[in-house]
Amino acid sequence: MGAWSSKQTRYIDSDILIVGGGFGGCGAAYESRYWGRDLKIVLVEKANIERSGAVAHGLSAINCYMGMRWGENQPADFVRYARSDLMGLVREDLIFDIARHVDSTVHKFEEWGLPIMKDPETGRYLREGRWQVMIHGESYKPIIAEAARKSATVFNRIMVTHLLTDGTRRNRVAGAVGFGVRDGRFYVFRAKAVIVCAGGASHLFRPRSIGEGVGRTWYAPWSSASAYGLVLQAGAKMIQMENRIVLARFKDGYGPVGAWSLLLKARTTNAAHGDYEAARREEIKALVGRYAESSPLPTCLRNHAMLQELKAGAGPIYMQTKEVLDTRQKEDIGWEDFLDMTVGQAVLWASQNIDPKERASELMTSEPYVMGSHATCSGAWASGPEDCAPADYQWGYNRMTTVEGLFGAGDTIGGSAHKFSSGSFTEGRIAGKSAVRYVLESGARTPRPDEAQVRRLKALVYQPLAHFAVGRNAIVAGSVAPGYISPLQGLQRLEKIMDEYAGGIGTFYVTSEPMLSRGLELLTLLKEDLERIGAEDLHQLQRAWELSHRVLTAEAVIRHTRYRQETRWPGYYYRADYPKLVDPHWHVFTCSQYDAQTSAWDIGKLPVHHLID
Ligand code: FAD
Ligand code: ADX
Repeated sequence: MGAWSSKQTRYIDSDILIVGGGFGGCGAAYESRYWGRDLKIVLVEKANIERSGAVAHGLSAINCYMGMRWGENQPADFVRYARSDLMGLVREDLIFDIARHVDSTVHKFEEWGLPIMKDPETGRYLREGRWQVMIHGESYKPIIAEAARKSATVFNRIMVTHLLTDGTRRNRVAGAVGFGVRDGRFYVFRAKAVIVCAGGASHLFRPRSIGEGVGRTWYAPWSSASAYGLVLQAGAKMIQMENRIVLARFKDGYGPVGAWSLLLKARTTNAAHGDYEAARREEIKALVGRYAESSPLPTCLRNHAMLQELKAGAGPIYMQTKEVLDTRQKEDIGWEDFLDMTVGQAVLWASQNIDPKERASELMTSEPYVMGSHATCSGAWASGPEDCAPADYQWGYNRMTTVEGLFGAGDTIGGSAHKFSSGSFTEGRIAGKSAVRYVLESGARTPRPDEAQVRRLKALVYQPLAHFAVGRNAIVAGSVAPGYISPLQGLQRLEKIMDEYAGGIGTFYVTSEPMLSRGLELLTLLKEDLERIGAEDLHQLQRAWELSHRVLTAEAVIRHTRYRQETRWPGYYYRADYPKLVDPHWHVFTCSQYDAQTSAWDIGKLPVHHLID
């Protein structure tokens, strides 16, 4: 421990601190510089913003674009789409706010050098689907990162572990602490406002990948639930944490399906070439009523149809790629879709001798993920836009959480699904502008974290190194150590608990009150053991803190799932004890608040207001 506790503490002061330099974070940096010309804006990132976050590898489509300049869609249309996809439960004010600004974000991306494909006949952006446009996006992230680099002072390779609160006012954020994953230093960031943009969560549930592929997931393996772990520990109210997402993907490589389904119009069939989704429409209607009438069928229900087929032994499920690749241009789109976004799927095809022109490819449902930006909307409860949020959705500045001065964007913010990359950047811009206003209007009221809190956190952050330094002396064989648990052992235990008790792949996404309660019991035991987590170096120390964020997030997922006594999203998870969707009783947001001092959770409901017909 000695070497690390004596490590220098570096203090960095700013007006606005942005945690995480992915899409939300880069948007927040760009916009807060625009409105806060003379402010000190700092962005801290655990990797390097050049290639960090869920989009590190590049993308082949921008999934949120209205096309208002061509009269393609209006923001209210998008709200209707996101609402029906989420089975009625969304924050319409937040979604509307993103939709009305997202086009300007995409136009900026193009201006900054992102090549957006064009329809040769109309000259407009080439549509993948109604809301999506195709891009040559291998370098998407570096292009967006450049805008952030020019706007903020960026600290790469620092893992933020905790937020700081004001010494006298607990519900006022005062900054954040973390450690350098390369230099080992302890960093104390003091700030007047903090915008958390630390991304969603993979690896809460056991992934399908095993053996040599272990660790392969759809959402990035480094999406470690920090957005939730950080803000919920600071006392922010969270919503919809049960609303995990399951993705239908090309099997094992997790290749995206949107371009194949929407642009190339390939059919998804069962093994007998049957259109099972259409065949099961009436059955699905009987299950969820009017929610099955929307077009397209909500994402969870598309999964549900697929799962019913698999359970009936009608699999494998296939994407009939060979039926649509009749031109060279379409073949190029199909391959580029993978090469820009999920190179591994193209490699898998090559290794399995699959030529998509010759044969169909298998689809499969993934393990669950927790996010706020895809066809799902877990995250923090945020104050809405001043001009259109209902009174009870508004208590301060736009995108401020229930903790004063603490803002969020992207996966961090709950209730607004379908933001994707462009919407997350847009939400970052909204939060950035709002945080600038907050800082300017709150004037001299600079928060002061209390020094005892900083000292306590410094000791806590490096504790896993001390556990290893002592515990390694008792290693009995290989890595078997009675005195500590390693981050990987802890992660695998978490994944097993979540998979088996909270509705993962192992139970075909089924859970129930007794299963969730038992899962919670096992999670509590895991938490006790994690007090003795050991880290042999800085890399493992990062893994240890990522695991800590994942475990707290997992606990929120279990508690919310147990609280909602219905099956709202068949295909994402099933409550076997409450198999039906229950309107109007459960036409509400689930909401929780964690007290880090007592470890108590307060859980309840918040109203869903419909603002658009
Ligand atoms: P991220 O962009 O993931 O950013 C989070 C950042 O926080 C990262 O840089 C991370 O390193 C950093 N961070 C995390 N924890 C910490 C910590 N403790 N301390 C410091 N920094 C931290 N969107 C589309 O528009 N079109 C698509 O086609 C599309 N396809 C996708 C395909 C895949 C395989 C994936 C994984 C995502 C896809 N998305 C797509 C979705 C898009 O990537 C997300 O919606 C978006 O990145 C969310 O933005 P964010 O800022 O919330 O998170
Ligand atoms: S991505 O997140 O990796 O881009 P994917 O390619 O599956 O995922 O989806 C891209 C977009 O198309 C998303 O907006 C998704 O909701 C939508 N989408 C995918 N498949 C379908 C479908 N069968 N019907 C309607 N929308 C779809």
